[in-house]
Amino acid sequence: MTAAPASNVAEPTSFVFNADNLAKAKAFVAKYPAGRQASAVLPLLDLAQRQSGGWLPRVAIEYVADFLAMPYMRVLEVVTFYTMFKQQPVGKYLLQICTTTPCWLRGSDAVVKACRDKLGIDFNQTTKNGLFTMEEVECLGACVNAPMIQVNDWFVEDLDAERTTALLDALSRGEDVPIGSQIGRQGSAPEGMVTASSQAGDVSAKPAEPAGKTGLATKKTASAKAAPKTSAKTSPQNPS
Ligand code: FES
Repeated sequence: MTAAPASNVAEPTSFVFNADNLAKAKAFVAKYPAGRQASAVLPLLDLAQRQSGGWLPRVAIEYVADFLAMPYMRVLEVVTFYTMFKQQPVGKYLLQICTTTPCWLRGSDAVVKACRDKLGIDFNQTTKNGLFTMEEVECLGACVNAPMIQVNDWFVEDLDAERTTALLDALSRGEDVPIGSQIGRQGSAPEGMVTASSQAGDVSAKPAEPAGKTGLATKKTASAKAAPKTSAKTSPQNPS
C-alpha cells in the first residue's frame, strides 16, 4: 500500500446530528444544570467525530458550538487541546502505536517497523485505500502488556512483529480482531497464568493456551467495524 495525505477527503459543507446522535446529544446536555450546557462539549464532539468518520470538519465544530450556545473559538480550543479529536481525516483504522519507554523496552520498534513495512506509510500518514492511519502516541496505560497498539477503541497488547502483521492482515480482510493480550494472558496476569492453586502445587492447574497459528489470541474479539475511541490526545477513533 502507498501513502496518501490524510487530507484527501473533501471538507464537507454542512453537518447536523443524525436522529440517533441528536437524541444522545440532548441526553448529554440534560445531565447538566440550566446554563451549564457547555459541560457537554466533550461527548458532543465525540458524537460529531464518530458521525463524521473519525475526524471533525470545521462545520461539525461549528454545529456543536451552536448546539451548546458556545463561541466557536471556545469549542475549537477544546478540539485542539485533546489529541483524541482529529481535524484531518483518518483511515478506517486508526493505529495508535505506543513508543514510550515500557513499550519501547518490550519491542515497540519492531511493531512500528512491521506497520511501516506492511502498510508502506509512516506516522501521521494514511494508506491510499483509506484503511489505515498510523500515529505515534505516548503511554496509553497498558504498559504491563507492552508493547501495544490502540486500534480505534480497542487495545491490542503483547505484540511483536509477527503478531502485528497478522493483526493488520486481519483488519485488511475486514475480520473481527482479538483485543487485549495476544499471547493469552488473562488481564495483566504473568505469562504462564501463575495462580494461587498452581503455586500451591495443584497439578491440575493449566498454563495459558498458546496463541493460534496466526499468532493472535482467539477470544475477546472486537468488531472490525468498531469506531475509534476518544481519549485525551492519546487514543484511536473510529469512523462508524
Ligand atoms: S508505555 Fe506503552 S502503554 Fe505504557
